[in-house]
Amino acid sequence: MSREEALELLKQYVKDEKIIKHCLATEALMRNLAKRLNQDEEKWALAGLLHDLDWDMTKKEPEKHSLIAEEILKNLNVDPEIVSAIKIHNYVHGIEPQTLLEKALYSTEMITGFIVAVALVKPSKKLKDVTVQNLLEKFKEKNFAAGAKREIINLAPQFLGLSLEEIFEIALKSMQEISDDLGL
Ligand SMILES: [Fe+2]
Repeated sequence: MSREEALELLKQYVKDEKIIKHCLATEALMRNLAKRLNQDEEKWALAGLLHDLDWDMTKKEPEKHSLIAEEILKNLNVDPEIVSAIKIHNYVHGIEPQTLLEKALYSTEMITGFIVAVALVKPSKKLKDVTVQNLLEKFKEKNFAAGAKREIINLAPQFLGLSLEEIFEIALKSMQEISDDLGL
């Protein structure tokens, strides 16, 4: 599936603009993580872009989130590793990620929402004014953007062999590069 087809599919299923932006941010993050870790950039980016494909359909049933996406993508002949990474990323299922791609998506996708929250408390509300230091400080505040589950994000350094600071740096840069698309 090409990037263009994937974006079209995403927009067909997801009408919530905030979620589309979250998917674009996760795509950018996954692409840059793949680059850093010498992995398949297109594959990782596609997993990021499509990971919340069933969001609108499962909003009220978190236990179904990612399972419907799995069904849709399986039928579209998407790479099985992408499909499994997307299925596993919903921690509610309690499935342990195995491959590097699965581990990356599982442990880092919440970072994008966390970075949005940090940007929104800046006077300018702009990503360009966010620093890695800001992220590290806000991450320590347990009640700040509590939806960005610290216990999941804290798995990322060990999973990826990068420090939390490096991961935040990659995530922040990835999002700053597409700040116009993110409206931040
Ligand atoms: Fe997500």
